[in-house]
Amino acid sequence: MKIFKCKICGNIVSLLDGNEKLLKCCNQELEEISVSTGEGEIKHKPVIQVEDNQAYIRVGEIEHPMDEDHYIKWILIVTNEYSKLIKLNPGDKAECVVPYIEGLEVYSFCNKHSLWKNVM
Ligand SMILES: [Fe+2]
Repeated sequence: MKIFKCKICGNIVSLLDGNEKLLKCCNQELEEISVSTGEGEIKHKPVIQVEDNQAYIRVGEIEHPMDEDHYIKWILIVTNEYSKLIKLNPGDKAECVVPYIEGLEVYSFCNKHSLWKNVM
């Protein structure tokens, strides 16, 4: 799944199907958000544990802050059978439980540190 962001207004968009070159916002092409790696992974990369066909997902091996000015805005789960967006607010727990499908992709988005991903 590719996720895009408008450099002007900050809108975030994912394309379910079709031509990404046709996506526009604020009269400009959108820029794909690349998945972050390396420094910060321990607090941002989703952790996935599978038990009894359920995927227990939490953001970060070390719990990420969920403060007003720094928090995980959403978790996106993508499989070949379903996708699910979990919107979060400051004070929420950045975690969820979903049915496990092999190849499960989990994205997390931090308002300060952008996009992270894990696959299981
Ligand atoms: Fe962060």
